[in-house]
Amino acid sequence: MADIDSLREKFLSDINQAENLDQLTSVKVDALGKKGAISSELAKLGQMDADSRKQSGQLINAVKQEITSALAIKQETLAKQALELKLKSEKIDVTLPSRPAPQAKMHPLSRTMEEISAIFADMGFVIAEGPEIETDENNFTALNIPAEHPARQEHDTFYLKPDADGNRPVLRTHTSPVQIRTMRSTSPPIRIIVPGRTYRSDHDATHSPMFHQCEGLVIGPDIHMGHLKATLIDFCRSFFGVDELPVRFRPSYFPFTEPSAEVDIGCSREGGGLKIGAGDDWLEILGSGMVNPRVLENCGYDSTTTQGFAFGMGVERLAMLKYGIPDLRTFYDSDLRWLHHYGFMPHDIAGLHTGIV
Ligand code: DAH
Repeated sequence: MADIDSLREKFLSDINQAENLDQLTSVKVDALGKKGAISSELAKLGQMDADSRKQSGQLINAVKQEITSALAIKQETLAKQALELKLKSEKIDVTLPSRPAPQAKMHPLSRTMEEISAIFADMGFVIAEGPEIETDENNFTALNIPAEHPARQEHDTFYLKPDADGNRPVLRTHTSPVQIRTMRSTSPPIRIIVPGRTYRSDHDATHSPMFHQCEGLVIGPDIHMGHLKATLIDFCRSFFGVDELPVRFRPSYFPFTEPSAEVDIGCSREGGGLKIGAGDDWLEILGSGMVNPRVLENCGYDSTTTQGFAFGMGVERLAMLKYGIPDLRTFYDSDLRWLHHYGFMPHDIAGLHTGIV
């Protein structure tokens, strides 16, 4: 029975060194399993005489007992360790913010275009688009600006290379050509706005060679100046968030509208600062008018039975006025500090239901 002591030593040390439950199970099998070392010792008792059996039996059973309880203690320790490890790995820090704060901000021009779109969408307008490279016909001629018309000079046009037929495409100088595209491809009623990029060869503190406009066009059998006025008064008041904002229609001239009116909003410049709202001064913010019958005819409409109104506004100017941005050039500087200051949270949706301002 000399080896029962060494078996005891071996198993107690194996139990001690087991690093996980799997290792401990295999120690248990080696010692106490059917073919385990301790079980084999017990099996040998049968062949012994009564005296040795009694003596060895007591010894082996005591060792078996000792190993069994060592296994149980170790089992508990390892199970606890395993649980702790699992809890640690699955730990959730409930104090962490659910989503990291976004680094990016939405550009104020994008925001302004979304606001303009939300206001007109609420009035039933849909968004129309057109290409930035336009034909001379769509950008000028069909809009009643023929080749020798003085309005052409005002547009500082970027002309592209002429095609095989000698037609020179242009970078569109305004969003008005989308009026032509829409009227030529659909029939009334029409109620569109066209936010988009426009280009003119002009660069200083108040002009950029690329800028944005938003055009509007409404066509139907009974559309009249009253609709134009109501639509634009509503727009100005919603956009600036001033219910009683004074709005003035001042006679003007555009080749594509007749009569034409420029729209001014009330403001005050008292004390050097500009304040939009009631005051003793006016600020021009958009151009408008009844669509010139010639333009309707150019698009194949019968101007005796169809009429409508159009308007156009500069998005940069509106954004500068609403958000107090003093220099137009900063829109395109890609300065992150500027964007952080003037930008908008990307999840803040512009809409009438959220309050535009
Ligand atoms: N296209 C004009 C411009 O670029 C803006 C404009 C004025 C558009 C009057 C219109 C309008 O549709 O009716 O200055």
